[in-house]
Amino acid sequence: MRIDLRSDTVTKPSQAMLDFMQQAKVGDDVFEEDPTINQLQQLTAEMFGKEAALFCPSGTMSNQIAIKAQTQPGDEVICDEGAHIHYHEGGGIAFNSGASTNPLSGTRGVFTAQQVKTALRPANIYFAQTTIVSIENTCNRGGGKIFDFQEIQRIRQVCSDNKLKLHLDGARLFNAIVEVNRSPIEYGAEFDSISICLSKGLGAPVGSLLIGSNDLIQRAYRIRKVLGGGMRQAGYLAAAGIYALNNNVTRLAKDHQLAKEIGTLLREFSFVKQVLEPETNILVFELERSVSTSDLIHHLQEESVFAFEVGPQQIRFVTHLDLPSDTLEKLRSSLARFKY
Ligand SMILES: Cc1ncc(COP(=O)(O)O)c(C=O)c1O
Repeated sequence: MRIDLRSDTVTKPSQAMLDFMQQAKVGDDVFEEDPTINQLQQLTAEMFGKEAALFCPSGTMSNQIAIKAQTQPGDEVICDEGAHIHYHEGGGIAFNSGASTNPLSGTRGVFTAQQVKTALRPANIYFAQTTIVSIENTCNRGGGKIFDFQEIQRIRQVCSDNKLKLHLDGARLFNAIVEVNRSPIEYGAEFDSISICLSKGLGAPVGSLLIGSNDLIQRAYRIRKVLGGGMRQAGYLAAAGIYALNNNVTRLAKDHQLAKEIGTLLREFSFVKQVLEPETNILVFELERSVSTSDLIHHLQEESVFAFEVGPQQIRFVTHLDLPSDTLEKLRSSLARFKY
């Protein structure tokens, strides 16, 4: 059986999710008449203690709308250098918002309130105006690292002191939530805008929500339409999201456990130089310099195990709900057969 460790985005809807989708009541969402989308938006807004939420086709669109709605052209966005909004959204902040990014060198995607303070631009005409800080939690390129909640609160304080907005790219926020003893409401209280994804570890085929105040979501609604993201009978997709939130959150802990077990397994092989300690469902490891990354990826592929190279000598494995139950054993035997 295929073991696809490239990403948690490869997951397909289960039969139970498909059944739930099929019975959804739908309407034209551009007319705000899709009852299932309205239900999902209300559910997620309430979950995070916010006034409103907007269903978007992708996490990228939710993030880009959040930046566009909270900046003016010429502004600057502070984020980590590996942040999805800066590194993996095709230069979207410049393209959509006419803003620039001020990327910080964090540790596995996590930066400090002090780094934010230091990065703030003096208020004079030579500099772009910093207007928003964006945190990613968990940090994708940081190997699923969890952003410490108290540091988030310190960053919130810097933002409040300097009249900056604070955005959370929470594509994998539920992975953090099941690991730390905090509720969505607590996260909601610290941020002006939050994007969450349904199509990653939660197993829905499509969808993301942008969550915030009524005023923000009203502006977001207009921007989504401009970007071509106004959907019609998308309640079938929203139903997948409702199913995912009701059934697939607590089980994320199993994915984290498997990632830890794979980390322990990898350390047994002498061709592995280092494993970044997995905190959630993403595991990044580094090969010894004498070993070819593409040779290992190719070898695994021949054995129906799929993975990505994410940096020099670095490979990423992502665990998720569609992996077969014997993944660890299959991986152990495939790795043992690798000749280098
Ligand atoms: C941290 C993070 N933010 C945003 C996104 C974008 O999500 P989408 O692929 O739905 O646009 C991703 C995608 O993997 C991600 O990892």
